[in-house]
Amino acid sequence: MKAAVLTKFGAIENAFEVKEVSNPTLNEGQVLIQSEGFGLNYADIMAIQGDYKDCPPLPAIIGYDVVGKIIETKGDCGELKVGDRVTAMTRFGGYAELAVSESAACAIIGTMEIGKAMALTTQYSTAQFCFNEVVNLDKGDKVLIHAAAGGVGTALVQMAKDRGCEIFGTCGSDKKIEYLKSLGVHHPINYRKEDFFEVIKNSHGTHSLDAVFDAVGGESVKKGFRLIGAGGSLVVFGAASITGKNIFGKLKTVFGFGWYHPLKFIMSSKAMIGVNMLRIGDNKPHVLKRCLVNVVEQVKAKTLDPTVAKVFTIDDLADAHNYLKGRKSIGKITVTW
Ligand SMILES: NC(=O)c1ccc[n+]([C@@H]2O[C@H](COP(=O)([O-])OP(=O)(O)OC[C@H]3O[C@@H](n4cnc5c(N)ncnc54)[C@H](OP(=O)(O)O)[C@@H]3O)[C@@H](O)[C@H]2O)c1
Repeated sequence: MKAAVLTKFGAIENAFEVKEVSNPTLNEGQVLIQSEGFGLNYADIMAIQGDYKDCPPLPAIIGYDVVGKIIETKGDCGELKVGDRVTAMTRFGGYAELAVSESAACAIIGTMEIGKAMALTTQYSTAQFCFNEVVNLDKGDKVLIHAAAGGVGTALVQMAKDRGCEIFGTCGSDKKIEYLKSLGVHHPINYRKEDFFEVIKNSHGTHSLDAVFDAVGGESVKKGFRLIGAGGSLVVFGAASITGKNIFGKLKTVFGFGWYHPLKFIMSSKAMIGVNMLRIGDNKPHVLKRCLVNVVEQVKAKTLDPTVAKVFTIDDLADAHNYLKGRKSIGKITVTW
């Protein structure tokens, strides 16, 4: 099979070699998928920069999501069978014509458009877990979503909108502000122009939010924690702001998160929850499956509608990554074979 193999950290243009590699083999409970294409995630950018701890040693085939047809199953794969068209989470190995997925990390999608289906495995499942499994929000609750125009961000906004929450959403350009308005974000904030902490503190006060969803990391987390009120939660699921920095910049970001003694959580009655979907997939595969099947059903029912940023072909692999890295993308990026 052909695969885009990550051979060098650093400049995206030199990072990959598209070449023939041997076909993967299956373990019990896994399916083999003939891929139509794969999705990009911000973690891929971090991996290319050498900033992603979970990335396998090089040369490596990275990639978390594929859409395609099942061509082989092994052992008990539940409802899945050869011929089903699925969206699937891969534990790396996604940037290849043939991809392996745990049956718990696949959902049948029928004829769903590739770009939309691609958004469901990693980004919408992560949002589903963060929004519906680890916090419990009511209509009218105030939520802050960072990088709200991104893949996970768009999903969180749609879920918060559906719940009837009052939404604060941050992003890094005026074009994205317009997009957030179109999604129904009540308070879009361009964080290149305004400090979200000051904006929310001045309009609503500190301790005014019920939930914050943060994958930017660093000081953003510290500020977000101050904005949450009793009974509220800060869900941390990434650290985009650490990417590409030198060791001093990385340390500054790490210290920027702040230090928290458990007594602080008790006294203030606030929660901070970390999320890593790879660990959830390992430890609670049925929860991952529930999240994935749930978002597929919601897209079919039109309560969720993933935004397709762009569909690239494999010949434009570097452009696809630069589009994400350059913070130009709104929604999900797909690369087709
Ligand atoms: N824990 C998990 O299991 C899990 C799963 C999926 C994703 N994630 C995390 O969720 C976040 C979103 O992932 P995604 O794939 O949906 O990507 P994305 O949001 O589509 O793209 C990343 C966005 O992050 C924003 N950003 C903020 N600070 C940045 C910086 N210093 N450098 C570059 N971009 C920055 C940019 O938006 P603006 O231009 O608007 O700032 C950029 O468009 C990532 O941090 C990712 O690692 C975590």
